[in-house]
Amino acid sequence: MRVTLTAIKADIGSIGGHIRPSVSLLKEVERSLQPHLGSDFIDFRLSYTGDDIAILMTHTHGTDNPLIHQIAWDAFKAAADVAKKEGLYGAGQDLLKDAFSGNIRGLGPGIAEMEFEERKSEPFLLFAADKTDPGAYNLPLYLAFCDPMYCSGLLLSPNMFKGFKFEIMDVSYTEGDKVIALVAPEELYDIAALLRDPERYVVKAVYSRTTGEIAAVASTTRLHNIAGKYVGKDDPILLVRVQGSFPATGEILEPYALVPYVGGFMRGSHQGPLMSVKRNSSVSFFDGPPIVSCTAYCVKEGKLSEEADAFDHPFWDYVREIASKKAIELRRQGFYGNAMLPYGELEYGGIVERLQALEGKFEIRH
Ligand code: 13P
Ligand code: 13P
Ligand code: MG
Ligand code: MG
Ligand code: MG
Repeated sequence: MRVTLTAIKADIGSIGGHIRPSVSLLKEVERSLQPHLGSDFIDFRLSYTGDDIAILMTHTHGTDNPLIHQIAWDAFKAAADVAKKEGLYGAGQDLLKDAFSGNIRGLGPGIAEMEFEERKSEPFLLFAADKTDPGAYNLPLYLAFCDPMYCSGLLLSPNMFKGFKFEIMDVSYTEGDKVIALVAPEELYDIAALLRDPERYVVKAVYSRTTGEIAAVASTTRLHNIAGKYVGKDDPILLVRVQGSFPATGEILEPYALVPYVGGFMRGSHQGPLMSVKRNSSVSFFDGPPIVSCTAYCVKEGKLSEEADAFDHPFWDYVREIASKKAIELRRQGFYGNAMLPYGELEYGGIVERLQALEGKFEIRH
């Protein structure tokens, strides 16, 4: 059976700052989705990561389906009204446009979708991050799909020997989607040259070169491109199929033990360690640190299995401690140097006015 996975996430308001959504918001999203269950889509699940709510739907309508997108948009809209009534902070924050126009892309919510022929067993992972941008997945995806130091399947599993194809997007381009396709291992250094700049180049999708099948797809929304100013961080989601001709679940997870520094954290303007957290975690220290959750599922004829929380394990308690130490270490230098993002990222915020005012006060001395 051909099935489509659609994951859509949005920040529609949260308690006490940018911490987490209220239970009534989640209930409202669920109430709004429920009538469509079994008719417009086959199954769905809800979760939150920090202040972002993720909807996962399974259906047979393919990607970019107006009905599916509209259902998600309406659910977020309805819940944003509840957030307004409750006086939650940033009510409707990621709903940047008033009207739905057939596709949720470009309206604010992040979206990751893939359509495929279900395998006999179809295991996959849903990642959701908060207080960071889509480039946060660059390094974990590079290591899991390209590097035999992390992905032993590249050496041990014949149906992975040919490697993977990466689609990488230049998210600085705003007139449409500017995408390049590069293959690993032949073009490894080109892939690395782009992914090293995660604010600009972002992994959009990964494909198996053995079967041609889609392996991973990430949301690539840059909110400041839509709004023209800082309106919160993008907080990306990612779908990854695992096992068989794809990396094993544990190979996809391993790079997160590296705890890479990513853009985001307080006011979306800093660098912070990406902490792997349990499902439905909030943020805290300095509005962070940047967090990522991972829920594992199997899907059969569009029906989702119960979920397994991939980062709910004693191993990741230890990694979270490392992340806390890395966060404290970098925060010690406050605004200075690498602790904050470069000007190109900050120019969507208020610092522009401050620097412009100062520019007029400089004098040239010869
Ligand atoms: P199991 O024997 O537990 O199925 O493990 C197989 C495997 O390949 C793990 O990566
Ligand atoms: P969010 O994008 O998660 O709302 O973060 C906004 C922010 O500025 C946190 O300090
Ligand atoms: Mg928020
Ligand atoms: Mg958020
Ligand atoms: Mg955000």
